[in-house]
Amino acid sequence: MKNLLEKLKAFFSGKNSADKSHAGGSAENNAGEKQPGRFKRLFLNIKAYAKRKPSAFIAIIIGIVFVLLFITYEALHLTSTPQFCGMCHVETETGAGAEYHTWKKNIHAAVDVGCIDCHGKPGFFGYMRAKMGGMYDLFSEIVHSKENKMAILTEGATNKEYAAKLVPNDWCLICHSDDENKRIRENTFMSFFGVKMRKVDAVKNPEFRELNGLRDIYNDEMPNISFSHDNHVNTLGLSCIECHMGVAHGGEFQNRTKMEDCFACHNAEREKNPEINAPENDACSTCHTTVAAMHEGTLLLEEGQEPTPPSMMVDQGVYGAENCSTCHMGGAFDLPTAATCGPTCHGDMDYGFMYDDIRAQFDAVKAPLDKLNMQLYAVVDKMTKEQHAKFNEFKNYYEILANDNSKGIHNDSIYVKAAEKAAAVGNELASSLGIPVAAPEENQE
Ligand code: HEC
Ligand code: HEC
Ligand code: HEC
Ligand code: HEC
Ligand code: HEC
Ligand code: HEC
Ligand code: HEC
Repeated sequence: MKNLLEKLKAFFSGKNSADKSHAGGSAENNAGEKQPGRFKRLFLNIKAYAKRKPSAFIAIIIGIVFVLLFITYEALHLTSTPQFCGMCHVETETGAGAEYHTWKKNIHAAVDVGCIDCHGKPGFFGYMRAKMGGMYDLFSEIVHSKENKMAILTEGATNKEYAAKLVPNDWCLICHSDDENKRIRENTFMSFFGVKMRKVDAVKNPEFRELNGLRDIYNDEMPNISFSHDNHVNTLGLSCIECHMGVAHGGEFQNRTKMEDCFACHNAEREKNPEINAPENDACSTCHTTVAAMHEGTLLLEEGQEPTPPSMMVDQGVYGAENCSTCHMGGAFDLPTAATCGPTCHGDMDYGFMYDDIRAQFDAVKAPLDKLNMQLYAVVDKMTKEQHAKFNEFKNYYEILANDNSKGIHNDSIYVKAAEKAAAVGNELASSLGIPVAAPEENQE
């Protein structure tokens, strides 16, 4: 270290004994006359060269500028990759400190939405500010203690208000809404000459949204749950985090909203004003429209087809949107089990085994589709536009199974229909992409 410092000092003062030919500096030489300093001499040489060969000189300058820009560009790029952020954000496997691991498991990673696409305001200056934040992170990593770091990260992972400031609504909306994308792009300097530093600054909707098969959160129906983003975000002024805390770091591929978040607020608001237009907690079907459609047997119904309600439930007379509490007896959070469904509903007979059979069958049908889904995500950036559209079609069917956490109990025929459609579209796409397609499972029935 000391050696290095001395070498540097010697270099800049020009007293480099090892390199006599370049010795000089403002120190007096043996003869005692004042020589121009190292830098001054260099400058004079360059000046002379520029006079002698002006065009070559300009070419060299342009070259140097380009090299410097390239280095800056590369450096900015390199320090923008999730792998770079991941150097310091891999302390644990889940929760605070596990940001790289949790991101890696998340759907956003699967479609190449990286850390700074969410952790930085959209636009060029937002990008640069995010880079400064990165410099502060670096400083913090060196200067502050590990406890300090974990305390800050825990705040971000658990405190909704704090987290909502880390990633404000606009940073999500640019990708998830058409109107907001337009507004933000019109009011923001997005990039120099379209130079692409990160994904988010090039996002134009509806193109990006449609390519990825995403819904416009303000104008399209939400999957699974009937819900208005416009009312909750624009009228009530809620942050995305209010319901989507953990959207990227919750530890799952898809991190769902939580019913207790809906109820906590609706209950509190009803206390203040009983007249509010929020569904009662036991009005299950108002929110759970997909489950209700399963129970009515109307999901995926095509022209001229008859509804197919769950067969066994029809025998018992307990199907349809009004009958949720027949099985969910203890209220919204009560999950029926083989033990409660069997003896309770079906008299002395133990129908519990049927419950387990249906769920096992469901798992067997879903497993190859889970695999296919991930295989397709792995090559999503290689898909043509047409292939991507096919993938989105696959996802729409697959989503029905992914969202059916009753594992087929709600309707043991509709999920089969969804699975068949998903497999048909998905397998065809997979073979067009050269992915080996698993042979269809032997019919287990
Ligand atoms: C050299 C290590 C290091 C790197 C690299 C790093 N971080 Fe951090 N990061 C930290 C530390 C330490 C903290 C917590 C301390 C602080 O903010 O003072 C932190 C905090 C954060 C926070 C929370 C800030 C807050 O105010 O609560 C976010 C978000 C974050 N980093 C994102 C990123 C992203 C995105 C990248 C990649 C562009 C990145 N970090 C790269 C070390 C690092
Ligand atoms: C889809 C957007 C999105 C992506 C991509 C994303 N994050 Fe986050 N990140 C968030 C949100 C939102 C929060 C606020 C807390 C929460 O909801 O979990 C957050 C919180 C954090 C925090 C605060 C501590 C914590 O655990 O909550 C850190 C640090 C962080 N992210 C780092 C990263 C790193 C590093 C990456 C890439 C490897 C990344 N994020 C990718 C949205 C994202
Ligand atoms: C750079 C664009 C981009 C940004 C920024 C972004 N997302 Fe996404 N988001 C996507 C894409 C693309 C998908 C996945 C589409 C697919 O493959 O189904 C997605 C998926 C989702 C999903 C659906 C996941 C599921 O379970 O199916 C939710 C919810 C979501 N994003 C919320 C957010 C929130 C909240 C933020 C801000 C913290 C955010 N996104 C930031 C592009 C983005
Ligand atoms: C009051 C609660 C709430 C708030 C606030 C909220 N969301 Fe949602 N969001 C939901 C619900 C409920 C769904 C329906 C899907 C589910 O959870 O099953 C959903 C679904 C989504 C989806 C999935 C769409 C798809 O194509 O699958 C995206 C993307 C999304 N929200 C983004 C956002 C963004 C961005 C914000 C902030 C501007 C936001 N949400 C604010 C409750 C909320
Ligand atoms: C922070 C408070 C808050 C949260 C969180 C919240 N809501 Fe609401 N919600 C309200 C209020 C207030 C109303 C009534 C608005 C009115 O009277 O116009 C409402 C109304 C509704 C309505 C009926 C009107 C409409 O927008 O369609 C539905 C459905 C609804 N909420 C679903 C949900 C779901 C699902 C969630 C959880 C994912 C949720 N809400 C989370 C405050 C909240
Ligand atoms: C205000 C809207 C709303 C109402 C009313 C509602 N739910 Fe939910 N419920 C949700 C949301 C949002 C989720 C989480 C997202 C998901 O699982 O798709 C959820 C999740 C669930 C879950 C999964 C477990 C959990 O803790 O998240 C069960 C079980 C459930 N609901 C059953 C019911 C039943 C039964 C009723 C009626 C007694 C009911 N829900 C009423 C919105 C609602
Ligand atoms: C025939 C009995 C039965 C009826 C009727 C029924 N459910 Fe379920 N439901 C179940 C079973 C069994 C499960 C799976 C419980 C588990 O995960 O262990 C379940 C799970 C769920 C889940 C998902 C739980 C999760 O983990 O996400 C939701 C949401 C749900 N039911 C909503 C409803 C709604 C809404 C209705 C009315 C339209 C309804 N159910 C009617 C039996 C029933």
